[in-house]
Amino acid sequence: MIKRFSIKQVAAKTGLEESEIRYYESVFKEFLTFTEMGLDRNEFTEDHISILARIKDLIYKRGFTVDEVKRELKSSLRSLRGGGTPSPVRGAGYARVIAVTSGKGGVGKTSVVVNLALGIAQTGRKVGIFDADLGLANVHILMGVKPRYNLAHVLQDNLSLDDVITRGPLGIQIISGGQGIREMANLSDEQRRVLLRQLDHLEREVDVLLVDTGAGISENVLRFAAYADEVVAVTTPDLAANADCFSIIKILLEMEPNSRIGLVANMVQDMYDGKNVFNRLQTAVQRSLNYELNDLGHIVASEHLRTATAQRKPVLFAFPHTEVARNFRDIVATIFNQKVFANDRKQSSFADLMGALKRNMAGSISAA
Ligand SMILES: Nc1ncnc2c1ncn2[C@@H]1O[C@H](COP(=O)(O)OP(=O)(O)OP(=O)(O)O)[C@@H](O)[C@H]1O
Ligand SMILES: [Mg+2]
Repeated sequence: MIKRFSIKQVAAKTGLEESEIRYYESVFKEFLTFTEMGLDRNEFTEDHISILARIKDLIYKRGFTVDEVKRELKSSLRSLRGGGTPSPVRGAGYARVIAVTSGKGGVGKTSVVVNLALGIAQTGRKVGIFDADLGLANVHILMGVKPRYNLAHVLQDNLSLDDVITRGPLGIQIISGGQGIREMANLSDEQRRVLLRQLDHLEREVDVLLVDTGAGISENVLRFAAYADEVVAVTTPDLAANADCFSIIKILLEMEPNSRIGLVANMVQDMYDGKNVFNRLQTAVQRSLNYELNDLGHIVASEHLRTATAQRKPVLFAFPHTEVARNFRDIVATIFNQKVFANDRKQSSFADLMGALKRNMAGSISAA
């Protein structure tokens, strides 16, 4: 049973005025609303109190702005929830969540997810893939593995996420959303609790979680993308793909102005073609949205990749010494070693992803 406190008790414990507490509640509501616990607005938990105390500290003692406090809270949310001292080290205990998305379908998201996953795993990091795509060429197909279960089994049959995780090459842990993704919008309270507990567990298992969001502008795609640490937007030289890519970037920035978005130009002829694709989109994004896209690199259109796909093998394994394989390794190096995503506009975590799910689910329940 969670211990609950009145606002008076919270004021006494934190030294904040009641009006200040209400103000912080409204400004930092993403950190202070735990609707899934069934609390009303006059009930507070230990977690609320420690977060409020932390906010007070950052503002009073360290002179942080609201945005700075939010960034700080995101990076220490997990340790705050554990009740301990917030860790100064970003990433401790967190999976870095990278959502791979696109406006148009068929531009190569799943190929990017699978090969980046391998490339990252080859650097010694523990990698998970959350396949939130309902498309046909799923992650498991390209990985050459057969999941027995998907998220729907967690929701319906009380299986644990562990049962649902399929091990791919290099220990990559793959969760297939399958039909479960569609059902996420209509979960009962009990199912929601089960899923959240399970996802929480996964957070401790991996260093990097790649999310294949599928294409287009659906609720799930956007939620996943908006709350990931970084978004990898995939496009091709095709003008329609660029227009759709622009649209999704625009919507993502409207949802989360601090998103870190990088672009991968896929199916290009060579590096110059890739730079052209990047520059075209970057110019449009800069002009209309006043945002600097990160250039994550390019992937050439490659017969090797097509052949590998047909063989249900990631090209990084099937043909490791080809240009296309090198392209993928370069993108991994860019994401991890160089200062891309260094615009540092957002500090996020898997906890945010779960927050997104919670809000998504809470929203659909209250809308029901
Ligand atoms: N660089 C490339 N060179 C050649 N073929 C490619 C390349 N990238 C992807 N493809 C091929 O394009 C097709 C679509 O790729 P993929 O399934 O990765 O795209 P997707 O964006 O995930 O599609 P969907 O929107 O349907 O999920 C596949 O047959 C894949 O082999
Ligand atoms: Mg796909």
